[in-house]
Amino acid sequence: MTDSQKKPEQASELPPPPSANDYIMAAPRISVQAFCESNDTAAAIRSASEDRRLGKAHVTVKMGGMAVALETYDNAPTPNVIVLESNGQSDLLTSLDELAAVCDPGTRAVVVGSENDDVPYRELVRRGVNDYVVGPIGPIDIVRSICSLFSASEAVAVGRIISVIGAKGGVGASTVAHNVAWAIARNLKLDSVVIDLDLAFGTAGLDYNQDPMQGIANAVFQPDRPDSAFIDRLLAKCTDHLSLLAAPATLERVYDFGAHAFDAIFDTLRLTTPCIVLDVPHQWTAWTRRALEGSDEILIVAEPDLANLRNAKNILSTLKAARPNDAPPMFCLNQVGLPKRPEIDRHSFAKTLESQPLAAIPFDSNLFGTAANNGQMVAEISANHRTSKMFLEMARKLTGHTQVRKPRGSLLAPIREVGRRLIKGRR
Ligand SMILES: Nc1ncnc2c1ncn2[C@@H]1O[C@H](COP(=O)(O)OP(=O)(O)OP(=O)(O)O)[C@@H](O)[C@H]1O
Ligand SMILES: [Mg+2]
Repeated sequence: MTDSQKKPEQASELPPPPSANDYIMAAPRISVQAFCESNDTAAAIRSASEDRRLGKAHVTVKMGGMAVALETYDNAPTPNVIVLESNGQSDLLTSLDELAAVCDPGTRAVVVGSENDDVPYRELVRRGVNDYVVGPIGPIDIVRSICSLFSASEAVAVGRIISVIGAKGGVGASTVAHNVAWAIARNLKLDSVVIDLDLAFGTAGLDYNQDPMQGIANAVFQPDRPDSAFIDRLLAKCTDHLSLLAAPATLERVYDFGAHAFDAIFDTLRLTTPCIVLDVPHQWTAWTRRALEGSDEILIVAEPDLANLRNAKNILSTLKAARPNDAPPMFCLNQVGLPKRPEIDRHSFAKTLESQPLAAIPFDSNLFGTAANNGQMVAEISANHRTSKMFLEMARKLTGHTQVRKPRGSLLAPIREVGRRLIKGRR
């Protein structure tokens, strides 16, 4: 079913929260050759090759299965990964033995099996098969399989990237990004780094009350590939679990970047930091688009007016199309209920964007103004404020840490409960 065919009640469902187990690390620059038996498998692999996590991989797809693979490698070098679809008829193990004889050391093999295969997994492993997936397969199965071949053997990236962007300038995207990141670090205890990508005007340094520093500018303008130790030195520590890669917010130079300018910084941070929150400025450039497309989660912040609705819809549709195997971007409304302003209600937003907002944050000039001027987060001003709870809830949904741990009941809890009921009964 296409999105436009969804029933209205389905439109109001939230996308399923990401699960920590579902994280797939991007594959490095590798060559992958697939030999398929069926058109469906070939189509799934072609579609997988478009996935962001295989963006660096070079994938080719041929028909003919094992027979064509043997013919091909008889006199050609083997790639980093061979994907073979078995037809469930010919002797898979004998063919794998023949293939092993012509395979270069280091080549990894993924077999897409059929239900008719009657081969013990142990025998496949003995023949050097690195992964076995039973068809019919979808693009994400292939993405997961290929990426897992590399994540296990090399430095494992642990970090998820959450990007936050405004549907218009000044809607409060940075404020939301900083408060949500603070809640992720403080309440969910995930080590987090906020990267202020608004190099000229970013406010993360002000919001977290940090002295002006170069942070992200030093990282992006240095000619060598940054390593973890170098990035660590650029981080400003804001709280126990939260650090900041601040923007210089100076105007001596201009900040025009190529699409790939931040890739190495993000990749390096992912190796050490479980949660990276990108405060993406309201721009549509090669590098902002790439940062968004490469993120694990995307949050669009919108004010409840028509221009925001149009822009949010455009950002959402474009990113959805570019990331067919990912959950769609989420959105939240901010500055809702600004006195005397006619607004578009959340239901119209939900209908047009085909999902419910993560939150509808009320306009509160006193609360947000005080926080901004003091260099504090909203929860530092009032931890129990409704808005602080909204930020925590958003933090949970964006990280997939949706389960609230109930405090463990003490041994006396049932007795206290009986006592409470007795007292109530007497009143
Ligand atoms: N819910 C709110 N109620 C009142 N004021 C708010 C609210 N959210 C944000 N603000 C204020 O709005 C102003 C703009 O916020 P912010 O800088 O986060 O927006 P932005 O979308 O990141 O802007 P830019 O496009 O410049 O990056 C700030 O002064 C902030 O304190
Ligand atoms: Mg901003």
